[in-house]
Amino acid sequence: MRRVVAEVRTDVDAARERDPAARGAGTARILIGWAGVQAILSHRVAHAMHEAGVPALPTALSYVSRAVTGVEIHPAARIGDDCFIDHGSGVVIGETAEIGCCVTMYQGVTLGGTGFARGKRHPTVQDNVTIGSGAKLLGPITVGHGAKIGANSVITKDVSPLSTVVGNPGHTVKVEGRRVEGPDSDWIHLPDPVAEAIKSLSERITKLERRLVAIDGKPPEAEVEELRAKQGPTTAGG
Ligand SMILES: CC(C)(COP(=O)(O)OP(=O)(O)OC[C@H]1O[C@@H](n2cnc3c(N)ncnc32)[C@H](O)[C@@H]1OP(=O)(O)O)[C@@H](O)C(=O)NCCC(=O)NCCS
Repeated sequence: MRRVVAEVRTDVDAARERDPAARGAGTARILIGWAGVQAILSHRVAHAMHEAGVPALPTALSYVSRAVTGVEIHPAARIGDDCFIDHGSGVVIGETAEIGCCVTMYQGVTLGGTGFARGKRHPTVQDNVTIGSGAKLLGPITVGHGAKIGANSVITKDVSPLSTVVGNPGHTVKVEGRRVEGPDSDWIHLPDPVAEAIKSLSERITKLERRLVAIDGKPPEAEVEELRAKQGPTTAGG
């Protein structure tokens, strides 16, 4: 009983510390109004029953919790202390997912598999990781401690500790709070060999058509237009 009370207190405190809207809110208010806290607490019960070999009930509890909170957590998933799911809705945590301590997740996060493989197929998230809203973490990858995953990122590869990863596909923009520097840091303007080849061909066709016009005087049937505007130095200019 003492353990249950301690777990409830830790999960409620996590909401109070990490959700500005919960600062100063009483325990009862958080238990009634914070779907992410309700989902984690009911998962702790479902997981304990699952570990004890209780049939059917863990799945039923997980189903009811999903209906109420919009958070689907498989009863077998392992979630450490002090975890917080903000807003709750749309979060999916798969069967073999493992989540460390002090992890924060926002709505719409998926810790999912990539196919029909069995065995370990969901992510392992180490301590103190923050996962932004809508991020999809897929496969048996490891997200290192203290990492930040940007909102709406799609992550299918391991993430180094203390790094910030954003985008689809996820790429590292910061390590230990410092921007990534060096030849591989410009992920926005990566070369596109297929587009370059087509562009070169279209330029050659345009030149050939101009020569034909000069020879037989007939205008070309269709003008070959440039594929896309030249990229500027930033995404806004590209
Ligand atoms: C990734 C995140 C944690 C910011 O981390 P940070 O270390 O402070 O990084 P910065 O804000 O300095 O951004 C670094 C670069 O990544 C880009 N970036 C940040 N978040 C991004 C995202 N979600 N998707 C794509 N690019 C993103 C920035 O534009 C910046 O690009 P630049 O180097 O070209 O200027 C934050 O942007 C984020 O997505 N947080 C999730 C918050 C959330 O889900 N809130 C929901 C509340 S309901």
